[in-house]
Amino acid sequence: MTDRLKLGLAGLGTVGSGLVRLMAARGSSLASRAGKPIEIVAVSARNKRKKRDVDISQFRFVGDPVALARDPEIDVFVELIGGEGGVAKEAVEAALKAGKHVVTANKALLAHHGASLAALAEKHGVALNFEAAVAGGIPVVKVMRESLKGSDISRVYGILNGTCNYILTLMEREGRSFAEALKEAQAEGYAEADPGFDIGGFDTAHKLALLTSLAFGTRPAFESVYVEGIETIAPADIEAADGLGYRIKLLGVALRTESGIEQRVHPTMVPKETAIAEVDGVSNCVAIDGDFVGDVMLIGPGAGAGPTASSVMSDLLDIARNHILAPFATKAKDLMPYKKAQMRTHEGGYYIRLSVFDRTGAFAAIATRMADQGISLESIVQRLASAELPGVHRRREGTPATVVMITHQTTEAAIRKALQSIARDGHVEAKPQMIRIEKL
Ligand SMILES: NC(=O)c1ccc[n+]([C@@H]2O[C@H](COP(=O)([O-])OP(=O)(O)OC[C@H]3O[C@@H](n4cnc5c(N)ncnc54)[C@H](OP(=O)(O)O)[C@@H]3O)[C@@H](O)[C@H]2O)c1
Repeated sequence: MTDRLKLGLAGLGTVGSGLVRLMAARGSSLASRAGKPIEIVAVSARNKRKKRDVDISQFRFVGDPVALARDPEIDVFVELIGGEGGVAKEAVEAALKAGKHVVTANKALLAHHGASLAALAEKHGVALNFEAAVAGGIPVVKVMRESLKGSDISRVYGILNGTCNYILTLMEREGRSFAEALKEAQAEGYAEADPGFDIGGFDTAHKLALLTSLAFGTRPAFESVYVEGIETIAPADIEAADGLGYRIKLLGVALRTESGIEQRVHPTMVPKETAIAEVDGVSNCVAIDGDFVGDVMLIGPGAGAGPTASSVMSDLLDIARNHILAPFATKAKDLMPYKKAQMRTHEGGYYIRLSVFDRTGAFAAIATRMADQGISLESIVQRLASAELPGVHRRREGTPATVVMITHQTTEAAIRKALQSIARDGHVEAKPQMIRIEKL
């Protein structure tokens, strides 16, 4: 490395152009913060002629990101293209092999190939930094890689996808259906035209896989994450949760258990009075439970040009100061294989919503099915559809009523068996809704 830190920037979209803007805004103050000047010497994007809202005329344009990754003039390859494979992977590998430091915001790439890329970075004595890949502007990677290393971590969890949190917040505050809230999120620019990756929980799962590795010293194991999205959450669930003192959030949770590590992404009921329940809109939050440190929580912007560029810059400042650590805090060769705890052994409370045919014996049969599995109930609420409220219409024997139950601590296996039996008995109109309650 010379007396200047020279960057090759691949990707000039939301994050890439945010970085160009941040560097222009900071000007010479960056050099004093970094101990040396940091400058972009060359850029790459798909379309050289695309009209952009940042001026890139002073940078050399390299059409092929892989060629930029190997460019003899650069010290650091900044990968802001995205995608788990393809050109992003090829370019990052080329950069590491050429002895260039790499900074990336690409959670998909690292969740799938983190262990091998970390090994490559260590082999060539360079950094592989990814602060922006998890929770955008929240500096959680640095906190977990460095600041919390004095403690053993038992659980890391959080709201890791702003799109989902925005949709759930709208559903709760304004009584919207999932479809209406999604449409509004798209109109506001908070959801992609193809939102499946976000609302299906996969983006959260990518970030969780990285947090798990940082927390437990294991190889990132995205394929072992249990994933449920928020598509099935209905206004009836939001309303019932509210009445019972909960809010529904899409959480990613990694938990050390006796049988291995749980990694799960699913809609979760959290008590209203907890800090995480207050994290609304597009904000993100990461909570870490450690032995000596206790419980730590970080809240902030999870995406967007400014926050992600700020995280990329933090990674660059570390490289400029020659502060280079193992990508996942533990040396790549010492990362342990991920030992998966089976989802059926998960223990917790559950919220169940059933649409029950209101006929003699139905409720007793449901209670028996729960008792058969040793499940005890903390509360049970029966709600009638508004058109069936007494005095509005005469209620007919056999029409469905909504039954909401909260269970005491039980296992996933028991709940699944009970719900299968209840569905098989024919007393419910539709597939039962089940939402896990996280103990906080
Ligand atoms: N957006 C966020 O808030 C956010 C937050 C955290 C992490 N991230 C991560 O940051 C990365 C970038 O996200 P983004 O939102 O900035 O994406 P984006 O706006 O879609 O920009 C992608 C950039 O990559 C360029 N590109 C695509 N394919 C290319 C190819 N084959 N060769 C060269 N350049 C190519 C595009 O070129 P053109 O401009 O010419 O089309 C564009 O400049 C992703 O890994 C994402 O997951 C994003």
